[in-house]
Amino acid sequence: MSQKFYITTPIFYPNANLHMGHAYTVTVCDVLRRAHKMQGDDTYFLTGSDENTGKILKVVTEKNQTVSEYLTEVTEKFKDLFGKLDISYDQFIQTSDKEKHWPGAQTLWKKLVEAGDIYKSKYIGLYCVGCETFYTEKDLVDGKCPVHLTIPEKIEEDNYFFKLSKYTQVIREKIETDELQVVPSTRKNEILAQLDRGLDDISFSRPVKNVPYGIPVPGDSEQVIYVWCDALVNYISALGYGRDDELFQRFWPAQAHVIGKDILRFHAAIWPAMLLSAGLPLPQALLVHGFITSGGHKMSKSLGNVIDPYDLVSEYGKDAVRYYLIREISPFEDGDMTMDRFKDAYNAGLANGLGNLVSRILTLSEKYLDGCPELPEQEDFTQYFAFFESFEIQKAADYVWGEIGDLDRFIQSTEPFKVVKVDEEHGKKLISDMVVRLYRIAQMLKPILPETSEILKKLIVENKKPEKPLFLRKD
Ligand code: MSP
Repeated sequence: MSQKFYITTPIFYPNANLHMGHAYTVTVCDVLRRAHKMQGDDTYFLTGSDENTGKILKVVTEKNQTVSEYLTEVTEKFKDLFGKLDISYDQFIQTSDKEKHWPGAQTLWKKLVEAGDIYKSKYIGLYCVGCETFYTEKDLVDGKCPVHLTIPEKIEEDNYFFKLSKYTQVIREKIETDELQVVPSTRKNEILAQLDRGLDDISFSRPVKNVPYGIPVPGDSEQVIYVWCDALVNYISALGYGRDDELFQRFWPAQAHVIGKDILRFHAAIWPAMLLSAGLPLPQALLVHGFITSGGHKMSKSLGNVIDPYDLVSEYGKDAVRYYLIREISPFEDGDMTMDRFKDAYNAGLANGLGNLVSRILTLSEKYLDGCPELPEQEDFTQYFAFFESFEIQKAADYVWGEIGDLDRFIQSTEPFKVVKVDEEHGKKLISDMVVRLYRIAQMLKPILPETSEILKKLIVENKKPEKPLFLRKD
């Protein structure tokens, strides 16, 4: 039965270009969305950029650009990468968009106030602009932010606070019982342990004099909404919450927010508390993936191990990059990527695996069959789709390549190229069976390698062998 499926990526900070980790998140979302679309679900895929952040101040000053010039340039680059990777999002939300995003953020703020969950207080403590997070001394490592390894700013401000502590218990229950599913279970346990330690109320606004960007707090022009509160609302503001409810009614709550492990607390504690306070339903699931490393280290310019997604797609093509991200990286753990591993996987899975199989089968069918054999109208993909239901996309890819391997072995054992010369009818039957099985594979590839899936289906229907290898071997 068809259902609705709303999926989101985190919104990306626009202070730098997207890297392989970001490419991973969007590709995972795209694959899940395409799989659900293929099952006939009513789908919606949201992505965007998190723009009301002090991080871009430094960049625009260095580049001598206006904020709006800079944001246009950088978001065009984001969209360019999404295009190159065949990411079929429905909307790219920008939190600086006063028409699309601000009404939602301000409406939600008012709901928090109505619920009695916002109060004014003084914040004295530490702030890391890199993370856009308030820290306490005990969070630091050698006095530095554990993520950015920089010394956080000491700030003393009058801010509005959100009564996060009030929601600790109810969120705990919802996560424990999987009403809000946190996948994988290691991340579920991690957040449950944090909830057991309790949540403190959180500063939810900043004085406008200290933060030049941001959405004004309704009724107080001296304060802007804290950037994480503002950013999380994108998941509903983009659907029209607070301005035009049509998409919101159709798609909220989300079936999945896909996020990296570093932003779990924001999504599994702060966001649910905001929704509960506003009387809105919680998302169904959080898929929390790990980090992409290179040679076991964080990709960084100084280590010289950065793989640029733009360059990689230009050299190998979109489906080669999608293949690596989905087949070689677990959606539940950290995954490694070096150019050597990438080439090995490309040669094994695409050039020698899929590509070779396609040319072997279609060379035979073009030569011996009069046309494309009759293809089944309806195939049963239940087993395959089950992997996507549980977010096991790597296993879904393994399943397809399992069938590719089986088909390859079928050719080796039946040797249709020999049989057709001695028993034409039987040989043709073997070739037809192989083409039908290849078509099934082409269909299953649709969410993972959409371009290859289309090319392959067309070749099969036209009964033509590829003019050149689908994936050239690289040495
Ligand atoms: N703007 C916030 C998200 C707000 S969502 C309401 C943010 N942006 S980010 O640009 O820093 O990160 C976006 C996503 O990329 C996060 O899910 C983060 O975990 C992910 N990644 C950043 N580096 C990564 C890797 N090296 N590997 C995989 N994903 C990583 O956080």
